[in-house]
Amino acid sequence: MRDLEQHPITPDFDVWPVIVKPAAVRSEDGALLVEWSDCSISRYHPFLLAENDPSPDVLHPLARETTLSPLDLPGDLLISSAELGPDGTVIVHWTHNHPTSRYHPGWLYGNGWFDTPHTIETTVLWTGKNQPEPPTFDGPTALNDPAVFLSWLTALRDFGVARLENLPNQDGLLMQVVERIGPIRESNFGRMYTLEIKDDPDSNAFTSDALMLHIDMPTRECPHGLQFLFCRDNTTSGGEGIYADAYRIAADLAAEEPEHFKALCEIEWTYNNRSKSTSYKAKGPVIERDFGGRVTGIRYNTWLRAPLVASLQEQGRAYRSYRAFAARAQDPTYQMKFAYRPGDLVAFDNRRTLHGRNGYDAHGGTRFIEGIYSDRDDLLSAIRSLERSFTTETTS
Ligand SMILES: [Fe+2]
Repeated sequence: MRDLEQHPITPDFDVWPVIVKPAAVRSEDGALLVEWSDCSISRYHPFLLAENDPSPDVLHPLARETTLSPLDLPGDLLISSAELGPDGTVIVHWTHNHPTSRYHPGWLYGNGWFDTPHTIETTVLWTGKNQPEPPTFDGPTALNDPAVFLSWLTALRDFGVARLENLPNQDGLLMQVVERIGPIRESNFGRMYTLEIKDDPDSNAFTSDALMLHIDMPTRECPHGLQFLFCRDNTTSGGEGIYADAYRIAADLAAEEPEHFKALCEIEWTYNNRSKSTSYKAKGPVIERDFGGRVTGIRYNTWLRAPLVASLQEQGRAYRSYRAFAARAQDPTYQMKFAYRPGDLVAFDNRRTLHGRNGYDAHGGTRFIEGIYSDRDDLLSAIRSLERSFTTETTS
């Protein structure tokens, strides 16, 4: 027998604080309608509630995943009535003698349809003018204080670039920091790479030359989502990092050069790496969007771009739009430029934030920068998990 004074579990491990309480509930055309204490109204399809029923017949109590097939439910299952239980738990009665269900009010509020989507936009678009340097946090403090670590991660999510400073020159530290966020994603450059000058380089990065702004790994079906560069030592002159927010560039192109923006979203370029031992190849538009038209990624790298095999007319359209993108990427007003200081760890969204560098004098000192890749999903999971650890279930 379940304790009716307790909120039921939810079909996840998130914390759902009951900030707003349900004031009244009823069935409306077989769906659930909830009136809340803040006067808002939310609605729930019967199938949404049935498959998220927290009873052990439907939800594995340990895994918190449903065990129900869509075909286990009658196709015309409806909510016959609903009532409020003790402490605001919502009790739902069904047609077809389907067993009564109970729902956590915080989970219902967080997953209801309120006639408008619930999305919260956190992305902050920037140029070098309003954001001359990455959001920066003291490294040792961030590694000791989960709240500061979370602030670094949310800045990385929102700005697409964020920096820790004052970290010690320590073997394995970069790997430890990245693994605290999530798994490392290896590449053809290994689990971790060092930006050093190679006698026989398999990338421009392994020279002391200047690097045009670019993303890494456009040669992959899904380019790596995050990149971390840890400067352990630098006594060379030059070599400053140059970064630009390609989402800002895309937004400005959409507003000011819509023809080029459209071409950048439609024309798929192929990218291939230049290596004697590997041969990666992938294609995609410079600007990737989701079904809602929101920019979700950038695939821009001039030296890994392969010939475009298309009609001359299409090639002309492709090159004109690529030049329009490059003109903004190379425009200093879009760029932040800063030196890599020993102890700096710069993290950035590789599929949003373009990166490059000035050339440096390899004979004037030493320069030791390590790099690691991971993915955006790991960042977002780490943020949600940390936020969850700071949230408690309270009622107002
Ligand atoms: Fe790079």
